[in-house]
Amino acid sequence: MNYSTLIIKEDNRISTVTINRPDKLNSLNSICKSELKNYFLNVKTKENIDVVIITGAGEKSFVAGTDISELTQLDKKTGEKLSREGQSIFDAIENCGKVVIAAINGYALGGGLELALACHIRIASENAKFGQPEVNLGIIPGYGGTQRLPRIVGISKATEMILTGNPIDTNEAFKINLISKILPQNELLKYANQIAENILSKGQIAIKKSLEAIKATVEQPLSIGLKTEAILFGECCDTFDMKEGTQAFIEKRKPNFRKN
Ligand code: COA
Repeated sequence: MNYSTLIIKEDNRISTVTINRPDKLNSLNSICKSELKNYFLNVKTKENIDVVIITGAGEKSFVAGTDISELTQLDKKTGEKLSREGQSIFDAIENCGKVVIAAINGYALGGGLELALACHIRIASENAKFGQPEVNLGIIPGYGGTQRLPRIVGISKATEMILTGNPIDTNEAFKINLISKILPQNELLKYANQIAENILSKGQIAIKKSLEAIKATVEQPLSIGLKTEAILFGECCDTFDMKEGTQAFIEKRKPNFRKN
């Protein structure tokens, strides 16, 4: 499929998805949202891709939210529908079966922050700004922000961010564990690719099962999460990669993992 709002580069098991509406600060209009969903449902079945990097075009913005011009006519029914649709796009990203890295190159506001929250790893350039400014428009975050932000940064800070709408800078985002690394703008994608390469050098079954187990921390009580972890650990022990990884360590050589 040809995308009009996304630039996709697939190379050596890494896909880089650039949201490309820089004149509107990469805000998510309906075409962009439907293209994102299409791509992430599609990438799930692509055996040649294991890591996806998402970023925004230009040096100013990752994604400055949903396209506000598409919100003005919403009512109760269409508003709920739009929210459910947005949530399903970000669910598709979180559950696409690949590791997804948000390379946040500027504003991550509203739906832009919610998009980053649905990714598994978040790194940012020094100029980035993060916020849920929806209250300024008389709405609440509707693409998962009220649920994922408290789970990631804690209820106290998330509540302050959502109720005030005030953005925070990269230093604060790093302090509250919203992002794991701050980089100069021109090194952001290089570092994202380094993380991707690192992940690609591991056993991919273990990578996928780690993601699944980590997800259990937010979706299940501890006792069930621990059970899930043990089941996934056992499944790993049944793989070629596990025999190879442990044997390679004993033989003091690099493991030769299978792709799947
Ligand atoms: N939806 C639609 N258009 C948007 C947008 C959004 N979320 N964010 C920015 N744009 C557009 C602007 O309307 C402007 O378009 P124009 O040149 O046709 O007038 C263009 O992107 C550049 O934005 P501008 O506001 O001029 O840039 P700025 O540097 O002065 O301000 C922001 C940057 C991010 C502070 C400001 O654009 C902003 O507050 N955006 C909205 C953020 C938001 O509320 N997001 C949540 C939406 S639910």
